[in-house]
Amino acid sequence: AIKDSATFIVFGASGDLAKKKTFPALFGLYRKDLLPRGVHIVGYARTKMDTEEYHRRITQYIKRDNDPSFDFKLEEFKNLSSYVSGGYEDSESFRRLNARLEEIEEGYGTSNRIFYLALPPSVFVPVAKHASQECYSRGINRIIVEKPFGKDFQTCRELLNDLKKYWTEEETYRIDHYLGKEMVKNLLVLRFANVAMNAAWDKNSISNVQITFKEPFGTEGRGGYFDEFGIIRDVQQNHLLQVLSILTMERPVSFSSEDIRDEKVKVLRAIPPVKAEDTLLGQYVAFNGKPGYLDDDTVPKDSKCPTFSASVLWINNPRWEGVPFILKAGKALNEAKVEVRIQFKDVTQGIFADISRNELVVRIQPEEAVYLKLNAKSPGYAFRAIPTEMDLTYKRRFTDSAIPEAYEVLILDALKGDHSNFVRDDELDAAWKIFTPILHWIDGERPKPDSYPYGSRGPERLDAFIEQYGYKRTQE
Ligand code: BG6
Repeated sequence: AIKDSATFIVFGASGDLAKKKTFPALFGLYRKDLLPRGVHIVGYARTKMDTEEYHRRITQYIKRDNDPSFDFKLEEFKNLSSYVSGGYEDSESFRRLNARLEEIEEGYGTSNRIFYLALPPSVFVPVAKHASQECYSRGINRIIVEKPFGKDFQTCRELLNDLKKYWTEEETYRIDHYLGKEMVKNLLVLRFANVAMNAAWDKNSISNVQITFKEPFGTEGRGGYFDEFGIIRDVQQNHLLQVLSILTMERPVSFSSEDIRDEKVKVLRAIPPVKAEDTLLGQYVAFNGKPGYLDDDTVPKDSKCPTFSASVLWINNPRWEGVPFILKAGKALNEAKVEVRIQFKDVTQGIFADISRNELVVRIQPEEAVYLKLNAKSPGYAFRAIPTEMDLTYKRRFTDSAIPEAYEVLILDALKGDHSNFVRDDELDAAWKIFTPILHWIDGERPKPDSYPYGSRGPERLDAFIEQYGYKRTQE
């Protein structure tokens, strides 16, 4: 069984994703004894390097802490991690890899393999193919892949079809790491385990919803990759749309992966393509000693690539008709924050004038929290409503629980064979259909994005843009 032994094969082992996310997550699981007893990790990439150099690279981003067993566990982790260098396009290299895997697995009755592709998209298909043809074991075989899944509906479909020649849907685990985040998973519980919450969850009570992603740094160093994709493909079409679908789907029949994903697909299919007039694009410029997007040497000087986008989506179903979902994402902004902000409607006029609206905020990161803005009587003799908050900040409420890293959660799910938090092929189709027309329009017309200073809240027009969709700022 997979709990007795498994080998992770990490392709692209010397790349950024592997170093920053995959290996730290594997180590995180290892030190908590959550990996199989007979676990081995084999890195694979083109670069030639010796074991010492390899170990240095894979542990580079692992954060040391005060746990007394840290050093010991890290040594053990290195001992079960080895490296093979080889090409991505020739079967000979993969036969060598397979021979190495067989050597490592000797003595374990079965050989279960998890192939993790931390690779640029240009080699997804050849690696998936050769891994399947040359390294498929007699035990369990699974493949983990991660975006970018194409650049639009068409190219995504082609990629999925190519991968399907070698790996079944059952064997495939498509990561969207937002699905591994605690507060994204929490949405299911907040919605479906609370009658009070669920009762107000529709167009009768809700005025508008914002799903916001803000990062305080630019694309420094990643400009070359980013310029081809832009913020919509980088964050909105995947991470924010995943959050949206969980937030708005109907109650699934059960929490089985197919039941959940059926509902997600259904709601995504009710969303028509985003329109240009429902979109506000931005690009950051230099400010206060910080470089502008175009100052990056890997970015073409005349690039119109959006580093900020606010896009409004509508859901054509009885629950949500007429409610705007404002997806905002931007780089080089004033803070790091990802949150969902649900703004409820005004109370019926007549007894209170000018009071704030209720808002339910789910802060995904940093400092996980759920809080509800509500009106209460101002304490004392006066009879007056004032805005206040019911606040569930995780750090204060759950003092002894640590929140695991998204990648740890997902790797563990893949080990267990649980697909619930992975993206099904038809989800990708539906997600791309929503954004493909606007992306083609942007790529073709190259509209000039609004500039915003590095470190600001975004384009100046943003507040007015959001207000158009009914959002009212709370009166503090
Ligand atoms: C990645 C994007 O998918 O998600 C990055 O490519 C972005 O541009 C990152 O920075 C954000 O992830 P997290 O977990 O830091 O919110």
